[in-house]
Amino acid sequence: MEEKKFIIPHEGNIKKEDRQRQKGHKSAILWFTGLSGSGKSTLAHAVEDRLFEMGFHTYVLDGDNIRTGLNKDLGFSAEDREENIRRIGEVAKLFVDAGIFVLSAFISPYKKDRELVRNLVEKDEFIEIYVKCPLEVCEQRDVKGLYQKARAGIIKNFTGIDDPYEEPENPEIVVETDKETLEESVNKIIKYLEEKGYLGI
Ligand code: ADX
Repeated sequence: MEEKKFIIPHEGNIKKEDRQRQKGHKSAILWFTGLSGSGKSTLAHAVEDRLFEMGFHTYVLDGDNIRTGLNKDLGFSAEDREENIRRIGEVAKLFVDAGIFVLSAFISPYKKDRELVRNLVEKDEFIEIYVKCPLEVCEQRDVKGLYQKARAGIIKNFTGIDDPYEEPENPEIVVETDKETLEESVNKIIKYLEEKGYLGI
């Protein structure tokens, strides 16, 4: 890492605040965390649909898509999950700098990895949304058929089965997808953004 000494970041004239002003709204990471099958992707896309309709600039980073591209070299060991989240965090930070609401949908099972992303950006720029749903319900939904494979031992280290999920302790928002409708969860998140002043400058 000796070469790092010779890296000198270039600072552009246009700052994050300029981009936000041009777009007329703040930018932030909406970090959806929860078990596989809890509804993170569905909810992130539904929130994006609503924000987009309202004229805001958005982008969704989604687990399975990122894992077939940027992070296709990573598996599901604790180290690989950490690197997965670290890279996504850095990408999400770039989107915040670009003045965009970035919605990320990853299991992100480890508290320390989520905290690492929180600490990459400014205080109000990381909104942790716990997509809460009991394991039994996720397993019953089994949208991708992966829980069945994990129970059969075909997939190892599957989150919730033989790998941990550390629940968020102080998330900004909790949605309970087994109790609320999709619309209710979306409304809750939009209301939070409105009340906290994200939707204006
Ligand atoms: S994370 O733990 O590193 O945050 P990520 O959200 O990117 O996970 O990917 C999770 C998705 O990968 C799951 O929704 C599921 O489709 C698939 N998957 C494959 N193997 C596993 C596994 N061992 N544990 C959890 N998810 C897995």
